[in-house]
Amino acid sequence: MKNMLEVQIGQLTLRNPLILASGTAGFGSEMETLFGLKNVGAIVTKTITIEPRIGNHPPRVCETPCGMLNSIGLANPGLITFKNDTIPELKKLDTRIIVSVGGENEDDYCEIINELRSVSHISAFELNLSCPNVVKGGINLGKIPKIVQDLVYKLKSITDKPLWSKLSPQTSDILSLSLASQAGGAEAVVIANTIPGMAINIWTREPMLGGITGGLSGAAIHPVAVALIYTLRNKLEIPIVGSGGITNPEDAIELILAGAHAVQLGSGNFIDSLLPIKMIEFMKEYLKKCEYNSIKEIVGKIKLKT
Ligand SMILES: Cc1cc2nc3c(=O)[nH]c(=O)nc-3n(C[C@H](O)[C@H](O)[C@H](O)COP(=O)(O)O)c2cc1C
Repeated sequence: MKNMLEVQIGQLTLRNPLILASGTAGFGSEMETLFGLKNVGAIVTKTITIEPRIGNHPPRVCETPCGMLNSIGLANPGLITFKNDTIPELKKLDTRIIVSVGGENEDDYCEIINELRSVSHISAFELNLSCPNVVKGGINLGKIPKIVQDLVYKLKSITDKPLWSKLSPQTSDILSLSLASQAGGAEAVVIANTIPGMAINIWTREPMLGGITGGLSGAAIHPVAVALIYTLRNKLEIPIVGSGGITNPEDAIELILAGAHAVQLGSGNFIDSLLPIKMIEFMKEYLKKCEYNSIKEIVGKIKLKT
């Protein structure tokens, strides 16, 4: 029987458009026990850096109205432990594995991808471009189109695996950054990462997060993601992967109607660990009810008044 949820993101075929977002699903093993990763199109690993990182001081997360702030500080085991210990475990998972890569400069990204490029069960690399660039004075690597284009281009010469460019929503020009990713050879743009935010406990006068500022995610940022994706709709040759504030199955459809070919579920996982299963069921029901044959048919199909 035809799989109505199958999607194509560049070279990559996903069994359905639901992807677990970086940093919210660890390295997959916990999720496997909760609902079975065979039910999702892919999982993106926690961002990997060359050196291990213990991350920021706690508290690392706090709840906000309709969302959450996190300041994890890219805690991860580092490239070598990831390669030796985690990669063999990832092979056991029945889903596509996308490795999120982070770094402080171009060389970091090159080194990580060079080290991992021959691992057959890695389906793609997602470039976390919200990392501060030490060479450029701490400005996020992903803020300047020329830097993004050159970085993706250079990485493309190292690997044949698909590269996805994950952008920050904190930009006045998401289109230029997406076009730069495309020009560099990215096979998809991921729109978008968390929005910078902060919360203060007024009684202690202390910041709620050990890292002081953090990234806002969850329902609060969903309309931002919808608008960013809509801005890019019909303007790119490469697909958009939507990320931002999916907390119920309808939200995923909304991102797809705005122009996303696939979606990433992040903090919604923390509210309802069975959300992935509910989302997949809802997608099938929605297509049936609206008389579509496949999820691809509704990509960007927002109905605009003429
Ligand atoms: C606790 C936490 C950790 C995260 N860690 C990463 C990370 O390591 N790399 C990354 O690219 N994004 C990271 N993100 C961002 C998510 O992948 C996602 O893009 C963002 O949270 C927006 O989606 P959401 O509103 O569905 O959570 C993290 C988000 C959360 C909540």
